[in-house]
Amino acid sequence: MGRLSVVMIAMWSILFVLFPHSTSAQLRQNYYANVCPNVENIVRNVVTQKFQQTFVTVPATLRLFFHDCFVQGCDASVIVASSGSNTAEKDHPDNLSLAGDGFDTVIKAKAAVDAIPSCTNKVSCADILAMATRDVVALSGGPSYAVELGRLDGLSSTAASVNGKLPQPTFNLNQLNSLFAANGLTQTDMIALSAAHTVGFSHCGKFANRIYNFSNQNPVDPTLNQNYASQLQSMCPRNVDPRIAINMDPTTPRTFDNVYFQNLQQGKGLFTSDQVLFTDRRSKPTVNAWSSNSPAFQKAFITAMTKLGRVGVKTGSNGNIRRDCSAFN
Ligand code: HEM
Repeated sequence: MGRLSVVMIAMWSILFVLFPHSTSAQLRQNYYANVCPNVENIVRNVVTQKFQQTFVTVPATLRLFFHDCFVQGCDASVIVASSGSNTAEKDHPDNLSLAGDGFDTVIKAKAAVDAIPSCTNKVSCADILAMATRDVVALSGGPSYAVELGRLDGLSSTAASVNGKLPQPTFNLNQLNSLFAANGLTQTDMIALSAAHTVGFSHCGKFANRIYNFSNQNPVDPTLNQNYASQLQSMCPRNVDPRIAINMDPTTPRTFDNVYFQNLQQGKGLFTSDQVLFTDRRSKPTVNAWSSNSPAFQKAFITAMTKLGRVGVKTGSNGNIRRDCSAFN
């Protein structure tokens, strides 16, 4: 090996240690330009149809993408169904509340893509999920952005691999920051992505600790707006049917907007992990800035989503293109 190659390899190794997430350098826009040039339109049409049938398509797909990327990277491993002796990611307790419409969106988009002969078995489920996520954000009033493509689908999916990888609604700022940092995301990215809670639903059990028996001194979490706390109590009485879910954004539940941050300023963050973004002095300035500046929030959201989409991307022999998104080939 020539001296130059040794130097090059050494430099790449140093870069890899410094920037472990830069494996994603292989992602690019227009990745399918030659094999399936129309893929983005095909996916968008399916997502739009599904959106017209049910709004749940939006939050379900967005959350599915997040839960996919934080566990073994954005490789559609969350879509794989359990089989035989393997309990898959989707059956981990943290994933049981993923709404079925997210899975359905990806399966339907994959079928539409595969129906075009040149595209058959050429587009990964992971990329379809990334495109569908971009589409649901735009359809609900959020920013539209160019999505990077070129992910392969993962070759494993186990419930055990989910342990400790997803944030809990009780998390404080340090816990949120460290989990996001483990995925190459900054506090700013984390705050921008948390605004995904501007759409969608939560089951009552996920925040019941804040409205009943919060602590010895305070039966209700004192960082909660009092009127909002009463509303939550009436929508989620003690011993409510565990299937009941309520809007996470009480103001504009069906619009992807920065009202999420205005809600936090009023004590209307649903989870501790939402409200802490305003109560902790380290994140409060960002919440305040984005509550009154939608373009700045949208720009940060696009940056953060693009970074999220690069997490743990599989290439080469680490992945393949799944024929059926819910089963390994
Ligand atoms: C910051 C830490 C986060 C925590 C602790 C958290 C936690 C939760 C919880 C507990 C729910 C309610 C689930 C249910 O009861 O069905 C939920 C819903 C949701 N989350 Fe998060 N999440 C976080 C970040 C994110 C991120 C980064 C995204 C996407 C970019 C996201 C997207 C969603 C969406 C869209 C829903 C609504 C799902 C639906 O309506 O089906 N979350 N989240």
